[in-house]
Amino acid sequence: MTAMCGIVGYVGDKSALEVVIEGLRRLEYRGYDSAGVALISSNGGSGTELATERRAGKLANLIGAIEERPLPAATTGMGHTRWATHGAPTDRNAHPHTDCTGRVAVIHNGIIENFAALRAELTAAGHPLSSDTDTEVVAHLLEAAYQDSDGDLAEALRRVCRRLEGAFTLVVVHADAPGVVVGARRNSPLVVGRGIGENFLASDVAAFIAHTRQAIELGQDQVVEIRADQISITNFDGTRAAVNEYHVDWDVSAAEKGGYDYFMLKEIAEQPRAVADTLLGRIGADGRLQLDEMRLSPDELREIDKIIVIACGTSFHAALIAKYAIEHWTRIPCEAELASEFRYRDPVLSRRTLVIVISQSGETMDTLMALRHAREQGSLVLAISNTNGSTIPRESDAVLYTHAGPEVAVASTKAFLTQLVAVYLVALYLGQLRGTNYGDELDDVILQLAAMPEKVEKVLETMEPVRELARSLAGERCVLFLGRHVGYPVALEGALKLKELAYMHAEGFAAGELKHGPIALIEQDLPVVVVVPSRQGRDVLHDKIVSNIQEIRARGAKTIVIAEEGDDAVVPYADMLIRIPPTPTLLQPLVATVPLQVFACELATAKGHEVDQPRNLAKSVTVE
Ligand code: AGP
Repeated sequence: MTAMCGIVGYVGDKSALEVVIEGLRRLEYRGYDSAGVALISSNGGSGTELATERRAGKLANLIGAIEERPLPAATTGMGHTRWATHGAPTDRNAHPHTDCTGRVAVIHNGIIENFAALRAELTAAGHPLSSDTDTEVVAHLLEAAYQDSDGDLAEALRRVCRRLEGAFTLVVVHADAPGVVVGARRNSPLVVGRGIGENFLASDVAAFIAHTRQAIELGQDQVVEIRADQISITNFDGTRAAVNEYHVDWDVSAAEKGGYDYFMLKEIAEQPRAVADTLLGRIGADGRLQLDEMRLSPDELREIDKIIVIACGTSFHAALIAKYAIEHWTRIPCEAELASEFRYRDPVLSRRTLVIVISQSGETMDTLMALRHAREQGSLVLAISNTNGSTIPRESDAVLYTHAGPEVAVASTKAFLTQLVAVYLVALYLGQLRGTNYGDELDDVILQLAAMPEKVEKVLETMEPVRELARSLAGERCVLFLGRHVGYPVALEGALKLKELAYMHAEGFAAGELKHGPIALIEQDLPVVVVVPSRQGRDVLHDKIVSNIQEIRARGAKTIVIAEEGDDAVVPYADMLIRIPPTPTLLQPLVATVPLQVFACELATAKGHEVDQPRNLAKSVTVE
């Protein structure tokens, strides 16, 4: 089984191997446990044959294997990078998988839930299965279906898909069908790239953006057949499907490292632009917000009496911050909830509940399942996503896109900042619409929001001491992060970044909670990062955290304090002071998070870790 893999398919006049490997390189962030390719080539005579290679480990291992044992020239092919769930990441479990005749090859992203029954059926019928994967059953099912469909590979795949349960993107080739690649999707991504004299299939447009920016969204339960000059899309039942073609508005340079050693460094640096792009066109000349694109009518929004914001990981931290902003600016009760917990606790939802789902990738399965549950209960769902045409926005009632551009590093950075911008926009818009008590404050905050790209830029310019500090702490075993109010989710985010990149024990706490237990963790020289709230309108909060810093310092902690310029009250208690520009309290996460990203990235690099592809992780988590 494979959970969130990268898939590429190609038919045209170029070297399929080169196009596929290049595409896989761009998709390697999706999974890097193993990789493989399948090509359809001439067998030297009048016939054609299937050639495959696959290897455990990163793409480089596959490339090395192909260099040692070159594959035949081909202009039809496909490739896969895998992130394993069940079935260890071995050569044997790597994709592609083939049938008994060695003429059909299949690559797969997702989980086929009824594979045990299908496997038993195939074994009973005499098919030898040689891997631990669910994918292999598809190859053997296709073997017979292809015969029954008179050599029509798309029809064969439709027949097989009708028998499958679960989530899957499948791409298949057949040695008897040169010049044809067929794909299918259910609950898992697949996009088609339309070129001139060549066409592409991929999990993500990044794989083919160097060749074409024309893309087609493949809908749920659809099969696509690509040939060099033809694309045909059908539903699983064989009926013709409507085609939704679009132009990708970013180019290949946006998906390249652009001179940085890691995508993460580039993506941290891109944050001022990403924030600016996400604000672009959404604040009118009169200072009022324009979010008509969300496709929710003002009447619908006025009816809402409760909001639940749902997400996973870093996006969940944006959801926690959304709760503070929404309740303050709109006075609508708001909860933030982990997507993986949401539907299992039987949440109280109604037609007047607005559910906001936040997902950079738009493909996270936990979030998708939560959104489906909310819609089944009749609630309105608004998606905040960075990925045009992905499943979560498509299945939601409304969408507000962040414009971070492609985020390739597994650790989310610029996507997080733009998610914050999006939730602020939604909260302020609702506040404007419903005419809450804070009219003047809202106007002021909108102005301040417009100034955030510059402030983020300013923070980035002063990060050298943070990098030095990170390098000096590379030998530590544990780092704690404290915050209050919106500084608390920022602390959680700082800890998550350090865990996922530096593999260190890192915890984020609400500073006020410390005295209820975690303070026992404080020992001599333990590094503790404290996010100090702005003084603006939140004096009490500020003073409380200054006391918290004193408490931990008195117990030996090494205090690393993130505080606004001009905040002198913290100076006596800070072993290291990181300054951020003065910002209204609710907007402070936009600047306070940046040093924590830089800190985690530098510390992980100092420890020799691969920051773009941390161990055990994948960018897009399409399993529950
Ligand atoms: C954070 O750095 C991680 N990459 C992860 O927590 C991520 O935010 C989470 O998996 C949710 O992803 P999504 O926004 O694509 O749904």
